[in-house]
This record gives sequence, structure tokens and C-alpha cells, in this order.
Amino acid sequence: MTLKIAPSILSADFVNLQSECADAVAGGADWLHVDVMDGLFVPNITVGIPVLKSLRKTTDAFLDVHLMIDRPERYVEEFCRAGADLVTVHVEASQPQDLLEAIKTVVEQGKKIGISVKPKTPATVLLPYLDLVDLVLVMTVEPGFGGQKFMADQLPKIKQLRAMLDELNPDCDLEVDGGVDETTAPLVKAAGANVLVAGSAVFGRADRAAAIAALRKA
Ligand code: DX5
Ligand code: ZN
Repeated sequence: MTLKIAPSILSADFVNLQSECADAVAGGADWLHVDVMDGLFVPNITVGIPVLKSLRKTTDAFLDVHLMIDRPERYVEEFCRAGADLVTVHVEASQPQDLLEAIKTVVEQGKKIGISVKPKTPATVLLPYLDLVDLVLVMTVEPGFGGQKFMADQLPKIKQLRAMLDELNPDCDLEVDGGVDETTAPLVKAAGANVLVAGSAVFGRADRAAAIAALRKA
């Protein structure tokens, strides 16, 4: 699987989002990761549809939208229309029937669909969705904030999901989010992840190109 680095704009300077994103893309970012939080699913509030729309106008980069919101089926279509290339919903955020509806909506919009698990959620909960999605996202921190410590106890889950995907959906991307830096990147790569989200390890550094290159070769 091709390795992709996805800087999370959560650690960018939001007032200068256009130049921050341009800097990351010029520095070699494959995707831009957009963290959407509603203050209910997670104890923090970030950005939503209007910011995504504005961002879409300023960049051709692949926009990887991570919805940390309750009942995402209510909003996935709007996020697709606002310019998301990939929309990821959390398996804990809704009922199975509604999650299936959300997946169907995103596919009908011609966009990629991802499904995510929080650290305490076992991999097996994803079984009904693995052959329906383009990406699985394993959280290696409790979602809500950038700059937290990587949870190494999630590595077996990454391995387990890669094995499950090899069986059920071999082309599916496996993304890891939370505490990924030069030290932890080799661990998640070895466990089978191919998309690395990094907030503080990219936007928290002055030289974004060097930061991205370091993650790529770590
Ligand atoms: C956390 C977000 C992450 C966050 C990662 O809930 O989903 O995308 O930005 O930040 P770092 O890389 O600093 O842990
Ligand atoms: Zn995220």
C-alpha cells in the first residue's frame, strides 16, 4: 500500500489556514486531514462545513474529513457537497442501520468513505463495515485534542485490522491518528498502517517539508 502523510489542520494556525495548508502541500503532504468536532461526541469543538467550503476553494489537495460528531448520518451529505474527498465516521457515533445509511450516502455522492474506532472499541465491531469502506481509521489517542501521547496498546489492533482487511478488502487504506511522530511512525507502519495523520508533528514544526520527510522515512 502507498504510504500517505496527512497533516491535521487542528495544529495549524486557523487565521492563516490557506498559507498553512499550501505550506504543508508544498512540503509533500499527500492529504490534508480536517478534524470536525461537535462538543458532544468529543469534549471539544473545532470547525465545520463553512470552513471546509472555504478550504476547498483554496486547494486541490485531497481533503480527508474526520467527523467526530454524534449521528454523522445527519451531515455526511453536506460535508461531501462542501468539498470533502473522503468522509470518515465513527462506529461509536450512531446505530448500525444509520451508519450503513451514512456510508451509502457518501458513496452516492461519489466520495470515499472511512470508518473509525476509538481506543477502547475492539476491531471486531468494524466487521460489518470492512468490505463497504475505502479506509479504516484507528485512533491512537482519545479523540478530542491534538498533542496527546501515542497509545502503544493500540498497535495490536492495527495489526489485527490489517489482517482482517487483507482477507476482506485488501485495497482498503488503514489510517492512524494521534501522537504520530518520528518515533511512533515506524511502529504504526510496521503494524500495517499506510496513512499517517500528524498534527503537532507537522504543523507544530517550523519546517513542514522536513517534518513530512521525517515521517515518510521514519
Ligand atoms: C484528535 C484528532 C487528531 C489530531 C492529532 O482527536 O483526530 O487528528 O489532530 O494530533 P496529533 O498528531 O498532535 O496527536
Ligand atoms: Zn483526526
